Amino acid sequence: MQPLINKYIPKTSKDIYGQEESIKELKNFIINFKKEKKKSALIYGSSGAGKTCSVHAIANELDYEIVEVNASDFRNTEQLELKVGNAVRQRSLFAKEKIILIDEIDGLSGHEDRGGIQTITKIIADSSYPIIMTATNPFDNKFSSLRSKSNLMEFKTLDYLSIFKILKRICDHEKIKYDEDVLKSLSRMAGGDARAAINDLQSLTQNNNELTKGSLDELSGRNKTDNIMTALNKIFKTTNLKIAISAFENVEEDLNEQLLWIDENLPKEYTRPAELAQAYEMLSKADVFNRRIRRWQHYRFLVYINALITAGIASAKDSKYKNLIQYKPTGRILKIWWANQKQAKKKAIAEKIAMKTHTSKKEIVKSTMPYLPIMFRDSGMRNNIIVQLDLEDEEVEWLNSMVKT
Ligand SMILES: Nc1ncnc2c1ncn2[C@@H]1O[C@H](COP(=O)(O)OP(=O)(O)OP(=O)(O)O)[C@@H](O)[C@H]1O
Ligand SMILES: [Mg+2]
Repeated sequence: MQPLINKYIPKTSKDIYGQEESIKELKNFIINFKKEKKKSALIYGSSGAGKTCSVHAIANELDYEIVEVNASDFRNTEQLELKVGNAVRQRSLFAKEKIILIDEIDGLSGHEDRGGIQTITKIIADSSYPIIMTATNPFDNKFSSLRSKSNLMEFKTLDYLSIFKILKRICDHEKIKYDEDVLKSLSRMAGGDARAAINDLQSLTQNNNELTKGSLDELSGRNKTDNIMTALNKIFKTTNLKIAISAFENVEEDLNEQLLWIDENLPKEYTRPAELAQAYEMLSKADVFNRRIRRWQHYRFLVYINALITAGIASAKDSKYKNLIQYKPTGRILKIWWANQKQAKKKAIAEKIAMKTHTSKKEIVKSTMPYLPIMFRDSGMRNNIIVQLDLEDEEVEWLNSMVKT
C-alpha cells in the first residue's frame, strides 16, 4: 500500500491548511521577484508545518520549474556552487520560470559551515531567480548574514484543528471510518506535526480501515518506544551537541538498553565508514565506563557515558544523513545474550549459597532462589545476605531488579 504521506502531498496551496498568510506572502514574493529588494526568502518553522510542501505546491500552481537541493547533501562548497550556481545563472529564452529551493539549511554543518553559508550568500546576490531556503531554527548566529539578506517568513506550528482538517480530508477520501472525537484526540497528539499525524493515522487504520478509540490507546502505549526512537533521532540526526546531550533526558529505558539500542541502529544510520568507526569508538568507551560503574560503583562515570553516547556519537559525523531509517529494537541475539547474563548471575548466587550451606546448586536453585528476592526486601536481612555470601555488586543489582518485578 502506498504511504498516505506520499499520496496526499498537497498539489496546490488550497490543499495546505493553517498557513494562509505565509503562503500568500511567499507567493507574492515569487510573483513580484523582479521588484523585490531582497532576492531570497527564508521560511522557518517547526517540523511538519508545511514548509517544503508549500514551496512545491506554489511552484506547481504557478507552473514554475523547481530546482531543489538539500543543504546537508553537500560535503563541500564547490559541490554546492556547482549545482546551485549553475541553476541560477542559466537563463534560456524559452525556459520556464524557476524557483531555487535550498531545503533545510540547518543541515549546513561541520567546519564547512561558514563556507557553505558564504557560498549561498554569493549565489543569492548573483541570482536571477527567486531563492527560497527553509530552516527549523534560522536564529542561530551563523545565519545572521543570510537573515539580513532574506525575507523572513514564519510557518506557524499547526494547531490541532488544522491537523484535524488534514486528517479528515484523507479519511473521507480513503473511506476510513472514524469518530470525530477520536480523530481530534489523534490530531492533538501530533503536537503540530502534520507529517507525524498522517503517518500515525495510517499505522492505526491500515488493518481495518477504521480509527477506533482502542487503537488510539495503543498509540499512547507505544509512547515508551517512541521516546527512545526520538532520542535516537536526536543523536543520529543532529550535529548540534547541545541538542544531542539531552536526548535521553525523558527516556525510561535503563543505560544498558540505551547502549543496545544505539548499537543496533548505529550502522544503519551512519554509512560513511570513518564516521561509523568514530561513533563505535565512542560507544565502546561508554561500555568500558559502564563496566567500571557496575564493578566498582563509580557512579561519577555516568556523566561521561551520557556525553559519549549522545554528543560523542552525534559529533562523529560531519553532516546529517538524509535517509529516513526506521529504528529497530535490539536484535534477538543480543536479547538472548542479555537474558543469559541475568541467568548467569542467578547461577553464581545459587553456587555461593550452595557452598555455604553444603547443598547442591540444583537444590538451591529449586528451593531457595525463588524466596531470595522476598528475603531481600527486608533491609536488615538484605545486608546480612550480601555480607555472608560476599555478593558482587552486579549480583546485588540483579537481586534488586528481581525484588521490583
Ligand atoms: N499545513 C499543511 N497542510 C496540509 N498538509 C500538510 C501541512 N503541513 C504538512 N503537511 C503534510 O505533511 C507533509 C510534510 O510536510 P513538509 O515536508 O512540508 O514539512 P516541513 O515543514 O518541511 O517539515 P521539516 O522541517 O521536517 O522538513 C506534507 O507532504 C503534507 O502531506
Ligand atoms: Mg521540509
